[in-house]
Order: sequence, then structure tokens, then C-alpha cells
Amino acid sequence: MTFHRSIRKHHKVVWQLLMNRDFRHIDTPFYYYDTALLRATLDVICSEIAQYPNFYVHYALKANANPKLLRIIRDAGFGADCVSGGEVQVAIDAGFPGDKVVYAGVGKSDREILTALKHNIFCFNVESIPELQIINQLAAEEGEVARVCLRINPDVEAHTHAHIVTGKAENKFGIALTDMLQVVKMAEDLPNISFQGLHFHIGSQITNMHDYVTLCQRINEIQFQLNKQGIYPSVINVGGGLGVDYHSPEQHPIANFKAYFQVFEQHLHLRPEQSLHFELGRSIVAQCGSLITKVLYVKQTATKQFAIVDAGMTELIRPALYQAKHKIVNLTSHSESLETYDVVGPICESSDVFDKDIQLPITRRGDVLAIRSAGAYGESMASTYNCRSLPKSYTEEDIDLIKF
Ligand code: LLP
Repeated sequence: MTFHRSIRKHHKVVWQLLMNRDFRHIDTPFYYYDTALLRATLDVICSEIAQYPNFYVHYALKANANPKLLRIIRDAGFGADCVSGGEVQVAIDAGFPGDKVVYAGVGKSDREILTALKHNIFCFNVESIPELQIINQLAAEEGEVARVCLRINPDVEAHTHAHIVTGKAENKFGIALTDMLQVVKMAEDLPNISFQGLHFHIGSQITNMHDYVTLCQRINEIQFQLNKQGIYPSVINVGGGLGVDYHSPEQHPIANFKAYFQVFEQHLHLRPEQSLHFELGRSIVAQCGSLITKVLYVKQTATKQFAIVDAGMTELIRPALYQAKHKIVNLTSHSESLETYDVVGPICESSDVFDKDIQLPITRRGDVLAIRSAGAYGESMASTYNCRSLPKSYTEEDIDLIKF
């Protein structure tokens, strides 16, 4: 049996375990994480990058900072990619070594910069001239030298949702290509800054590998330009963004990391002493998580049938915010007939809809639904809007703790 088939089989076994539970008294909603799938995903990444000794992966905590998942990711040897002082602290508390932490963000506060300096992180990804000057000043006050990559806005199109495109000239992120040379020179001259290299991130949920080929070509042009000026960055960081299959998670529980890393191996020109860094979030954790929710009411109107569930945009905001599609499965209905439903949450917002006009087996009050591929940007984006509680989470290791 191939590795991927065995993972798909494992996945099925976990689902059967969940599906055979008596869900009547279950305390929902909660996130359920298949940590075996997470481990298998990490194994695939590790075995792919083992072929490339200068490739390093930093896990993007913003996708999911659940401590149970962080521990597993840290144990697999990954670094951490952070976008706030809070995330830097959480990464350090979870045991990620400071020298594997990278930190990006257009608006780093003084306090956040000091937190990162205190932990002597591998690299600040700096997004503007004033930020560079403040990091230099704070580092001087602390008697430190801050390692810095400059985040360059490469003006490359990523074919994904407009809200998660970051590498176009009109986006707020990074330093404009036209300013790059001046800022690199400034970084080299500032006494408490150690210029390491360049950082890029063009967007998220990218499934067209050609977008990464374009990024590589742009980085090659940029490096050519810098080399002509006698500037040789030692670090190149290409950010994250690899997408996952939300439509058929059971067919593709693990993203195509082989193809992804190969793009960079084949299209990016690196000198042997350069290191290449990745900041992957979604592709590591999305498929291992599901939001488990119970049907409160089935409401019939003249034109619609609503399955009203006890999870809402407070637990998973992606459908409301980005019109994202997550596969929805009824874990408890044994009906063979399908009906059409809008699956909606209880929040007082019309956008609190998980999906519209989907076919589910006949669904009744008390049925338990799984909203799949919710391991990334689900729990980490949860809110207490409407005075709701933050969602609980379980793994298959503590499945017996779930109140059934
Ligand atoms: N590096 C930087 C600088 C980033 O801004 C991001 C994501 C990542 C890495 C990780 O990207 P990933 O591999 O996860 O695609 N909430 C949105 C996604 C926002 C992504 C923000 N930046 C969603 O639910 O689709």
C-alpha cells in the first residue's frame, strides 16, 4: 500500500471512530484534530526537504496556535513564523528555539520588537524604512544587533481570493521594488542591524504552481540586480501560501509538497551558501482539523430548508469572510435520501452561513455535522462575538475525554 493510500485509510478509520459514537449528549461545537494525519503531513515535508540541505520550513502560527499541534510541529524540528509579539511568545513557550523564529508584520509595536529581541530570534522580516530605523534604535538601546530580512513586495499576481493576496504593488505589505536598493544599503549601514537577505509572501491558498514559478523568476531578477551592486543576500525566504483541496479532503489529505519544493529547486537560482526558507501554515494543518457541530433546528421556509447548527462564524469565519467552501458531512444520519439545505449558524449576521444549497442525507435536530478542512484559520480566527465561548478542541488521543 502506498504511503498516501495508507494515510487515507487511517483517516477513514478515525472518521468511523467518530461516526460510531453516540452523539446525542455531545457538548458541541468543538474542533477535532487528527494528529496522526498532522504527523504524516510533517513526515512528508521532512522527507521532501531532506533532499535539499539548504531548505528550512517555519510553521506559520497564525494558521493554528493550538498548543497540542504546536508541540507536534516543534518535535518534528520545524521553525516558527510569527506575525505578532504574542505569536513569538507562544512559539517560545511551545519550545520552538529562538534561532528558528522569523517575525513579519507591517505594524510591529515597540513592545513586540523588544519581545523578539529578547528571544534573539533568527530574523525580523522588515516591511518599511521607519520600521527598520526603530528596530535599529531599540536594538542599540538593548545592546543587541537585530538580524533582518527585508520583505520585498514583488508585485506578483497570486490567483487566489482578493483578501488573501499580499504580493501585488497595491497591497500594504513589504517594501516596493523601486525602493529596495536604497533600503538594502540602509540596512547594511545601520550599526545595530545585520542584513541577512530578502523575504517574500505573495498570498495564501495558492494551488497554481505557476504563481510560484513567477515568484522565483522575479527573485532571480532581483538577486541579479543586487549582485551587480555587490550585494549578496545569504537568506531567501519565500513565505508560505501552498493551498489545500477543500473540495475533496479525503482524496488529498496531504498537499503536494513534492511538486511545491521542486518548483523552487528548479526555478530559483541560489548560490550554494544561500539558505531558502518557507513559511507554511495552511498546508500543514488545514486537513487535520474539523469543526464538529450539532444541528439545533431544521427550519423550512417557502424557498429554503435551513439546517441551523450550534457553530457559527465565531468558530469558523472563513465562509463569511472569504466565501470559502468547506465540505460538510453529516456524521449521524443513516438516511439514504438526500435533501437540499443551507447550513447556517446562530449568529446575528446574514453572512453567518457555512454553505448554501448543499445536498445532505436527511438531517434532523440532534444530528452532528463535521465541517472539514478547518484546521487552518479556524480556531485561530475564532471570536467571542455575541458573548459566545471560544471553541474547545480535542485530538484522537483524547477522544475519550469528549463528553458523549
Ligand atoms: N507568511 C506570511 C508573511 C503570511 O502573511 C502568511 C499568511 C503565511 C506565511 C502563511 O500562509 P499559508 O501557508 O497559511 O497560506 N485567514 C486567511 C489566510 C490568511 C493568510 C495570512 N498570511 C484564510 O483563512 O484563508
